Amino acid sequence: MTVRPDASPPDLSSQRPDWWRQAVVYQVYPRSFADADGDGLGDLKGVTARLGHLAGLGVDALWLSPFYPSELADGGYDVADHREVDPRLGTLDDFDALAAEAHRLGLKVVVDIVPNHTSHRHVWFQEALAAGPGSAARARYVFRDGRGPDGELPPTDWRSVFGGSAWRRVPDGQWYLHLFTPEQPDLDWRHPEVREDFRTTLRFWSDRGVDGFRVDVAHALAKDLAEPLRDLGEPALSDEKALVRLPPGTHPFYDRDDVHEIYRDWRRILDSYTPPRMAVAEAWVPHARRVRYALPDELGQAFNFEYLETPWDTAALRQVVTESLGTARAAGASATWVLSNHDVVRHTSRLMLPPGADTGAWLLSAGRRPALDPAAGLRRARAATLLMLALPGSAYLYQGEELGLPEVAELPPEVLQDPIWEQTGRTQKGRDGCRVPLPWTADGPSYGFGTGGAWLPQPESFAAYAVAAQDGVAGSTLELYRTALRLRRKLTESESLTWAEDTPPEVLGFARSDRWRCVTNLSATPVPLPPGEVLLTSGPLTPDGRLGPDTTAWLG
Ligand code: GLC
Repeated sequence: MTVRPDASPPDLSSQRPDWWRQAVVYQVYPRSFADADGDGLGDLKGVTARLGHLAGLGVDALWLSPFYPSELADGGYDVADHREVDPRLGTLDDFDALAAEAHRLGLKVVVDIVPNHTSHRHVWFQEALAAGPGSAARARYVFRDGRGPDGELPPTDWRSVFGGSAWRRVPDGQWYLHLFTPEQPDLDWRHPEVREDFRTTLRFWSDRGVDGFRVDVAHALAKDLAEPLRDLGEPALSDEKALVRLPPGTHPFYDRDDVHEIYRDWRRILDSYTPPRMAVAEAWVPHARRVRYALPDELGQAFNFEYLETPWDTAALRQVVTESLGTARAAGASATWVLSNHDVVRHTSRLMLPPGADTGAWLLSAGRRPALDPAAGLRRARAATLLMLALPGSAYLYQGEELGLPEVAELPPEVLQDPIWEQTGRTQKGRDGCRVPLPWTADGPSYGFGTGGAWLPQPESFAAYAVAAQDGVAGSTLELYRTALRLRRKLTESESLTWAEDTPPEVLGFARSDRWRCVTNLSATPVPLPPGEVLLTSGPLTPDGRLGPDTTAWLG
């Protein structure tokens, strides 16, 4: 790898109110990041103690997945109190200390907000259960009588994202809606108290100094709950991916037009702060429908999962990048790019699977099939990352990808925690394989994650990926990320790119400016490098100076 020496002035973009437009945001999954109190579960003090790692990496912000009180029925996305810290993870004072230290280091802080549902342990749901059918307390959720002579059938054919019916019956005979686990009852967003409570939550964290919010399942809040509720007819249409098969805005619980009124209301609150708080929508909706979530008078930015789902293929990548930039431009937003997060198979492993492969089936077959070649996976992941970091817009990194961690596909059934495992009748392993606690040191208990164990077992192979094993090691993935992020800060100017039209079919090339071009070789054989000064490469060039297979170069 070649790196051009530093020359440019320091980048001041984090001082700007629109810092998020081209920011690199690092996702921390707190339970798996660092464990300060040795109970095997990561915590806020652990995050604070390791913020130097993020500052040294060169990211602009961290996004904290939920750290709120939760029984962990869905890894913290089952929130019992949106304005508290889970006692196992710390206190509000610990959160304040974390935010203060992050800000001192020049890092913005983004928190997760989970508005579609609460935990069943939330005081509102407990009240709803106690108050009985027809009560005001039940009106905050979606309770209905069942069908059939004794109401023994669920009210509709809607399916949970995690498998099975989206309805659960309570002892008095009524049913409640849960698009995720039964421990996550859906709220009824037509209820004024629900709306007001989330306004309070936005203000609560904004007042504590958070810089932005990641909005969980942003496309599901508004539902068609007019009586009688309607069946989808084909329960498979409950799958978010099936949205494209219905006329836009007609699905009873995804991506309805009235959801946008909620975000216009939120934007007024977010804009009442100086600087305005940013927000990014987690909305699994097609490109054209994503525009609205990202409008400046709504959330301002939306995740782009089409990019994450695109196979390692030149034409497919070029198309998705073009479409994503178009979507962002139409919204007046910047594009977003994600390769890994806490819900998907890590890209080091995923990009090695055949295009269109069923990742669930792959996870399930772990141990019965030849393991993926970790070196080849890492080479491709590094190339993909360098390509992503050269794209205009904002990049979201997931903890551990800077170490090149692969998916831990071989977790045995008895340790699995993701509700998907049980809810699918043990036919889908779920997302634990990307949530295994991070290795910080090459030895010691839980590889430096904490002084005790780790809530999910770390494989021995983690030793070689540890931060300490890569720190200062030329060519390591950690050093590649550090260098790339440092260069990116200096090179980022425009929010557009120009495709290179003279590249071979399996080479993807584009220019961000006359001092920054990116070229990726997706073929199995080396290709000549375009002319220019080599700034950085994701892997070594061939001895005769060509770009090897699955390698990206930045050129000046
Ligand atoms: C989002 C989260 C996921 C969670 C779900 C329900 O998709 O990213 O982890 O299970 O929402 O809250």
